[in-house]
Formats: sequence, C-alpha cells, structure tokens
Amino acid sequence: MWKPTRKASISIQRQIINWILDQIQSGDWGVGTKLPPQRQLAIQFNVNRSTIQQALEELKADGILNSKVGSGVFVANNSWNVLAKNNQPNWQKYIEASIHRPNYHTIQLINEFEQDDSIIRLGTGELSPSLLPTKQLKESLHKLSFDGKDFGYSSPQGSTKLRHELCNYLKKRGITTKPENILIVSGALQALQLMAVGLFETGSIVFQDPISYLNSIHPFQSYGMQMKSVNRDKQLKQTLQLKKKNRQSIFYTVPTLNNPTGRVWTFQEKQHLYNTCKELQIPIIEDDVYSELLFQSPIPSIKSLDTAGQVLYIGSISKTLSPGLRIGWIVGPTPVIKRLADIKMQMDYGSSAVSQEIVTYWLTSDLYENHLIELREHLRFRAKFVENILNQQFSSIAKWENSSGGFYIWLRFDEPIVTKEFFLKLLKRKVLINPGYIYDPDDSDHIRLSYSYASLDELKKGLQILYEESLTTIKNSCTP
Ligand SMILES: Cc1ncc(COP(=O)(O)O)c(C=O)c1O
Repeated sequence: MWKPTRKASISIQRQIINWILDQIQSGDWGVGTKLPPQRQLAIQFNVNRSTIQQALEELKADGILNSKVGSGVFVANNSWNVLAKNNQPNWQKYIEASIHRPNYHTIQLINEFEQDDSIIRLGTGELSPSLLPTKQLKESLHKLSFDGKDFGYSSPQGSTKLRHELCNYLKKRGITTKPENILIVSGALQALQLMAVGLFETGSIVFQDPISYLNSIHPFQSYGMQMKSVNRDKQLKQTLQLKKKNRQSIFYTVPTLNNPTGRVWTFQEKQHLYNTCKELQIPIIEDDVYSELLFQSPIPSIKSLDTAGQVLYIGSISKTLSPGLRIGWIVGPTPVIKRLADIKMQMDYGSSAVSQEIVTYWLTSDLYENHLIELREHLRFRAKFVENILNQQFSSIAKWENSSGGFYIWLRFDEPIVTKEFFLKLLKRKVLINPGYIYDPDDSDHIRLSYSYASLDELKKGLQILYEESLTTIKNSCTP
C-alpha cells in the first residue's frame, strides 16, 4: 500500500497531491469518484489530517476535485480537461451501472488493511500462517508424480480421483454419494456464486438466519435475489410459507460452527429445518466448511438426512488446510451438478489441476487426518487463551459463549458501541476487527473475534486495545 516517505526530496503534501493526480490520470479514480474520508486517508498515509486537508484544498483550487457539503470530496467533472485536455471514458458510470454489488466500505477497508503487517488482525477468518502445514505441503509436492495433464485444464466436474476420494471422506459426515454427484470448485465462495447464477431466477428468495455470512459477500444479492432473514422457531413453517408466496426459494445455512456466531446446531434443529423445507419443497444449501474444526464429536450433517436430493452440500479445505489452494466441492443431484459444471467451464475452465492433485494426495494418505487432529488442539489452545483474557478483562462490559471449535467468538457488548466510528478508532490504533454490522445490518453490539490468525502476543495486545477503546466509547456514550 502506497505511503508518502519522509526521505523524499519533495514535501509529504506534494507527494500526496502527486499520488492523487496519478489515481486520476491512470483512470483508477474516474470522474465522479468519491474520495475516501480524510481520516481514512490520514490513517492509510500515516500523516496528520491537516496534511490531507491541505492537499485536497490545493486540488480543489485547481479544479481537479470538488466537494459537496455533507457528502464528501469528488473527482471533478473537468478534472481531465484540467489535467490532460483529453477525454477519458466515464468509468465510474460503467462501474455504477454493472450488476455486481461492491463490497461494504468496511469490508473494503478490512481487505486493504489485512495486507499491512503492522496491523493486529482480531477478526480474520483464516488460519495463521504458523498453523498451515507448510513444510508437509512442500514435501508432498516432491512426492507427487505430476504428469503433463496436471498442468493442463482440468475436466468440467474436476479430477475423478479427487471425487472418488471425497466419497470416502464424506462418509464421515454421514453422506453417501457418488463421484457424479460431486463438483470440484475453486473454494466454497465459488460454489455460492455458481448457484446464484445457475439455479435461480431474478426475484427468487434466499432464506437465511438473521445473522449471516451471506450479508458480508452478496453473491445472491448481486443477481437480484431477495434475502429474507427468518427465525427458526416453532412458527418456521408458517413464516416460510408466508414469505415465500409463489416465488422460487432456497434456505442457506451454516449449521456447524456458524460464521460469524460460532454456533453449532443440535441434530433436532437440523431435522426440524430439513423436514420443514422438505414439506414446502424449499431446497437447502448447507455450507459446512468449518465442521472438521469442531472440538467435540461431530453431529451428522443435514445432507446426511437427505433422501430426496433436497440439500446442496458445500465443503472446502480453505479453513483446514490451505485457502490458497482454492479447492472446495458441491454435493448434489446430477442435473444440478452438470448445470453448475457447465457454467464453471464458461467461467474459469475448471479449478487448478495441481491443487486438486495435492488435495487428493492429502486425503488419500494419513496427512490430512493427522493434520486435523493437531490443528484442533492448536485452535482449542488459542480459544482458551482468548477466553481467559475475556474473563479477566471483558466480563463487566460484554458477554460471549466459549468456543465449540473453529475460529470465532461472537462477542456481545452490553452497550451498542460497535459502529463504523468504533471500527475506525481501532484501525487508527492498528487493530482490525470484523464488526457485527457486516453480518446483520441492524447489529451494533457484536464483533466477530477470531483467535485463528493473530499470534498470541498480538491477541493479548489487540484485546487490551479493544478493551481500552470499548471503555472510552462506553464512557463517552454515557456522558450527556
Ligand atoms: C461460511 C463460509 N462459507 C464459505 C466461505 C468461503 O470459503 P472458500 O475459501 O472455500 O471460498 C467462507 C470463508 O470465510 C465461510 O466462512
């Protein structure tokens, strides 16, 4: 990420002006682009806000930027005339007119600041590099005998060997399936995107729990599907009937080690959803990417109850072995798998054959199982470490449930302090959190605390800063 340097011969302010001009001239910031808020630029460049303010004032005086009271600073209409006296397509208009939704601004900031090594990442949903089996992954590369095909395009449904191996592996989740019912995808996220474009019409309904991972990524929303949050209580059947009307619909859920809440459904809850949806002929997407990280013995998946081809099951190795290999899978009825495979070929010509070879090798040998045993122990240790800190420091201001596995603790503050401002305050102190409002727009009291990424020292330091900022925010909100 670019930052001005004090070592350069020109002033910090001039470097910032030149950088902004570069953004405009390269077309990255087209006419009408709204500039990031001044306080964000100040954090990003590690300078005082007044330096940013002066740089922007100079560009405004030159007619390159303009400001609209209350809505921010923008690239001016005639900025290009001023700069180069030549014409540039209005990229901003193209971008705004396109189908796919942008990420929430908070998520854009998370993605950006996750690249900064000086930041403490208290929210990241990823294994710390120290928990990845890097050495064994490297060794397995030597043991694999790649042939020419492995460096070519993969087949539409993915490697037959891998799909066979997955059938054995899925038996542990109580799922009996055949290779033709499996599609290899480039991560679980692609599974969701393929379903969104390949199975539903615009206006279809996606039912979900009120706090949902889907709210943070928009794969269905971008294709005009309506998200409806429902409570899975005794009235579930009536609620679904009422909200579904005559529309096509689906129920999306992460029943084991939910992202972000960490919750694990009981077998009865799974049966209840399955039976209700079966009666109403609503298919279910079961996103099961965390299930192998459960500390206690696993509860059979919803898919294991499926006798009617009702459940589309999603798995992935991203949370257990390596998100970088980009390998996941969908299990479902053959026509669905064929349809999604056809779209996948149009999108990316199949997932990396090399990654598929590596995953096949790990599943066939004891490597994967042994790695999981160790990984769960490390995660259990990290969860306890964080819970101890929470017990010592946070019990008077927040509540939480101890982790049952996976990466997350859904920390609930007693006061509604988790706003964008709170997020930015922490960012200024170099602590990155995942605020609850990215999973439920109405939420202002939770954060998704992750113990899987930051080092133990960072967790301790980051939680101390979180505690201090929480206390200050609570105090300020109490003073009239
Ligand atoms: C519930 C859930 N589903 C899917 C994904 C996407 O995982 P992948 O890396 O396999 O695309 C994530 C990643 O955060 C997740 O938490």
